[in-house]
Order: sequence, then C-alpha cells, then structure tokens
Amino acid sequence: MLNQLPQSLSKPLLKALKGEVLNPPPVWLMRQAGRYLPEYRKLRKSVTSFLSLCYNPELASEITLQPIDRFQFDAAIIFSDILVVPHALGSEVTFIEGKGPVLNPIKTQRDLESLKPHASISEQLDPISNTIKFTRSGLNEETALIGFAGSPWTVATYMIAGKSEVGHHSSIRLLNEDRETFKKLLNLITSSTIEYLTLQVESGVDVLMLFDSWAGSLTGENYEKFVIEPNHCIVKRIRKKFPEIPIITFPRLSGSMYESFSKRVQPDCLAIDQCENIGELSNNIDEVNCVQGNLCPQILLQGGTNLVQETKNILRDMKSKSHIFNLGHGILPTTPIENVQTMLELIRDP
Ligand code: CP3
Repeated sequence: MLNQLPQSLSKPLLKALKGEVLNPPPVWLMRQAGRYLPEYRKLRKSVTSFLSLCYNPELASEITLQPIDRFQFDAAIIFSDILVVPHALGSEVTFIEGKGPVLNPIKTQRDLESLKPHASISEQLDPISNTIKFTRSGLNEETALIGFAGSPWTVATYMIAGKSEVGHHSSIRLLNEDRETFKKLLNLITSSTIEYLTLQVESGVDVLMLFDSWAGSLTGENYEKFVIEPNHCIVKRIRKKFPEIPIITFPRLSGSMYESFSKRVQPDCLAIDQCENIGELSNNIDEVNCVQGNLCPQILLQGGTNLVQETKNILRDMKSKSHIFNLGHGILPTTPIENVQTMLELIRDP
C-alpha cells in the first residue's frame, strides 16, 4: 500500500492555515452554498422550510458539494446555519422569505427559563454529523471541509431581538439593563457551541470557523467581554480537546479592535471584512498563521474592471504572506455566476 501523506500535505487550505505562503492562494467564498447558484434555488424549491434542508443529510451534503463541483473551491463549508444552535436550545426558528429569521425573543430571565431543549445539543444536531460524513465521502483529497458556528454575541443578537435587528438595540439594552440574564444567555450559547463544534470535529471536518458577524456593534469594554472573551473561551476549549484542528475566527467590522482580538484569541487564521486594507492589517498581526479575505461582495456582484482591479490588488498585497482568498462577507444572492468565474481565473491564472 502507498504511504499515506498526512492530510494537510495534500490540502492547500490546510497548508495556508499552518502558515505556508502559496501562489496561487487557496480560495473559497463565505455563503458559497446558497441562492446565487441555480442548482441551489431549484433544490430549495422542493422543500418548504430552510431548516428542513439543514437537517436533511442527503440534501445538505448535496448542497455543500454544489459549489465545489462547479468551481473546485479549496474548501467546502457544511450547509447549515448559525441558528441551528438556538433551535436546538428550544427556540422556534423560522426563515421568512424577504424578512429573514424569526425566533422567540429572549428579553427576560423568564424567557430564558422558558427555552425547552428537546434533547441534548449533540442529539438534536445529530443530522449534521451525517451531513459531514456524507460530504466527506464526496470530496477529493485536495478539498478541505469546514465546520462552523456563530460566535455567542452574534447568535445572542438573533435570540434577544427574535429577528435580524439593525443596530442590535434590544441586545445592547439587555446587556446594559439586565446583565445577569444577558450573561446567562451568553454562557448557555458558549457551552452549546463548544458541544456543537466538538460534534463537527468528531464527525470529520478539517477546520472550524466562528462567525461573529455583528462583532462591530460592540465597543470598548463590552467588545472585550462579549466578543473577545467568548471567542477566546471557545478557541481555548476546542484546542484543548483537538490540538490539531485549525480555527478561523471572523469578528466582522472590528476595525481597530482586530489587533487586540488576535492578540488574545490567537486563532490560526483571522478572517477580515472588506473595510480593512488586508496587506496593512496583516503586517500588524503576528499572532496568527494566516489571514483570510477580503474582496467586497458588492464588487463581486457588479463585476467589470473594478472586480479585476480589486482582485489583483488583494493578490499583490498578500503575495508574500500566508493568505486564503475570500470575500469580506457572504456572497450576495444576485451575484452573477460569470463574475465568480472571472475572479477565480484571476486568482488561479493571474
Ligand atoms: O455556504 C455556506 O456558507 C454554508 C451555509 C451558511 C448559511 N448561513 C446558509 C444560509 C452559513 C455559513 C451561514 C452563516 C450565517 N447564518 C451567518 C454568519 C455569516 C454572515 O452571513 O454574516 C448568519 C448571521 C446567519 C443567519 C441567517 N441565516 C440569516 C440572517 C438568514 C436570512 C438572510 C439570508 O441570508 O437569507 C439566514 C438564512 C440562510 N442561511 C440562507 C442560507 C443559504 C438562505 C435561506 C434560504 O435559502 O431560504
């Protein structure tokens, strides 16, 4: 039998996560399995609810593989959602077309106590373990598999408001006016997230990513306590259990706080949003092996000369660094497929 190479040697994404400089860099896109793909829209029509897709391992793994089959990205990200954790905790979660998610709002200690988990997190989220196993068997040796969860603050914003809320006023109010309830909620999400990520690693993902999409809504001490600390706690606990699993963190819109975040959390990779100059920011961050980002999703949607120029600028600025090419936030649902193709040609054959 041939000697088996350690997996990381054949997967460009894992090499970059260990700090290797690769030209071309590995590439994947946040929200790559989703509505901009006609094959996803077709499959989505066959079921009534989005969550029923997340809990159907055959369909979820088919969707996870759709963007890989089409674009040969360097990583697949499991098709699921950050809101499966509140759902597993007993909140109702529905996704309404054009409106977004709707959950039971948690505004008081009583609301928090009224959550009724149907089962333990790992029992409730067991279908996702099968999605991971099915997906693994459909991937070639070069493609990494990413598992993920939302970071506690971001998940809390949906649980407290009961929906997507601009400015996150309800969550900031609870944090200021009933800190005990807020902290209990954050701790509950943190421990559940650790359990959920553990299940994903045990089922076979190669990498974990933590999405703190709304990190930028907190400032000062609140940012330290409720963005940095929960991310740090999760990274530390997962590393202790699985020292080999690389972790990507994405405290979106952290601005000048990206540096303090990296110093304390020390992820393997920091993903950054499009408001940052990726070359400059990566010069100021020594604690991480690798930086991921940060093409603007709107530029990808619009295409044309801006897309060419911005893609080239990122490649030029990150040429001598360990970099994973990605967007600064999720791909927008109306993005033309041809623009993704153009971007990939520039990256792979500059
Ligand atoms: O391809 C992938 O990235 C994997 C799947 C994935 C989804 N959501 C599928 C999805 C991932 C990684 C997410 C993460 C997620 N979900 C985040 C963090 C990243 C970010 O974009 O900031 C957040 C904040 C959510 C919460 C969420 N899920 C909202 C607010 C919504 C409604 C708005 C929207 O984008 O539709 C969702 C729904 C959702 N999650 C869809 C998909 C494909 C669309 C649902 C549908 O097809 O009906």
